[in-house]
Amino acid sequence: MPLAEVGHSSDARRRVTIEEFDRVLGGGLVDGAAILVGGEPGVGKSTLLLQAAGALAADGGTVLLATAEESAEQIALRSARLGISGDGIEVLAVDDIDAIIAAADRSRPDLLVVDSIQTVATGEAGGSPGGVSQVREAAARAIRFAKNTGVAVVLVGHVTKEGGIAGPKLLEHMVDVVLSLEGDPDHGLRTLRSMKNRFGPTHVAGLFEMRQEGLAEVADPSAALIDGWRGSVPGTVVFPTVEGRRPVLVEVQALVAPTTLPHPRRSFRGVEPPRVHQLLAVLDRHTDLGVAGLEVYVNVVGGMRVVEPAADLAVALAVVSSAVSTPLGPLAAWGEVGLTGELRSVPMSKRRLEEAQRLGIDRVIATNGDASPGLLIDALTSAGLIPD
Ligand code: TYD
Ligand code: MG
Repeated sequence: MPLAEVGHSSDARRRVTIEEFDRVLGGGLVDGAAILVGGEPGVGKSTLLLQAAGALAADGGTVLLATAEESAEQIALRSARLGISGDGIEVLAVDDIDAIIAAADRSRPDLLVVDSIQTVATGEAGGSPGGVSQVREAAARAIRFAKNTGVAVVLVGHVTKEGGIAGPKLLEHMVDVVLSLEGDPDHGLRTLRSMKNRFGPTHVAGLFEMRQEGLAEVADPSAALIDGWRGSVPGTVVFPTVEGRRPVLVEVQALVAPTTLPHPRRSFRGVEPPRVHQLLAVLDRHTDLGVAGLEVYVNVVGGMRVVEPAADLAVALAVVSSAVSTPLGPLAAWGEVGLTGELRSVPMSKRRLEEAQRLGIDRVIATNGDASPGLLIDALTSAGLIPD
């Protein structure tokens, strides 16, 4: 049919009324959207979706929570603990996707949650639940239901540290939105990231904290993440990362130590290992520190994961600061380091600067503006880590 005659409702969004969740969705739930929420077991997917159901229902919406992983009693117990009244929420504890869809077709809720796509199955496809053919067929049925009825559907998918068995990867192209809930098991912080969104921007992150009373939105993530940061010790610097368009300050720590091993130990948390290996090679070439023969540990405090190349300069400064046992003081840094030791500018410099200043950090070494060092070696010099 002619494109001009196709009806559409561009701003028909229903807010979940959990601000961080709505932001990651691009403003709320779109009618008929198929949303995949992936994450490692235990990270808090069921908790998040139960809270989302509670918020949506408290706002007058209706939700069908279909679970093949927990009993209805378990969900009732958890929602009582989370202070969710239950009005507007129906629970269905079965593992037959066709039964789930039939129930959702009768009640036509605003949101259908299927927890999880790996534990439901249809009698009309072969293989066991969790297998490729069952996961694909169950998801296809749920997505078709969403498109036919306008009911927004959330599929919960478990992924393992290695990227997941038959699961979310295979579903990513089938759904409209892919959200990933990530967190460090040792920390309460959880990041909800949009990896794909046909209705909004990607690389938007929402921040939550796992508490006794469930996931709570973090009001001032920067303040929370650099709480306890001490610029007076070697090996630490602040990096303003930008998630979506919002800057968040994180503390990058490094520890460099002599080794007795033929292959010095390397351990990186919260940063992209290939980038850090590359950075260490650059540092080895352009300084006399002998980085190649030292153990190097890098950590982003608080369980945040930083994926931007803009973190290069902060990582380099933290590593060298530790190597020469010289503190950087209160300092924020950002910039990409190229293979030849050059510094390359990165987007959103103004926002990063403003966020650092908001938290009282006025000293900055960054690749943008007139004061940009140009070379990594110059940045190390101006930070007072190596002599001119
Ligand atoms: P859950 O939502 O069941 O994880 P997933 O569905 O991703 O497997 O959450 C699991 C963890 O969250 C569990 O180990 C306990 C913790 N938790 C809290 O700390 N506080 C809470 O209020 C709730 C409900 C869970
Ligand atoms: Mg669960």
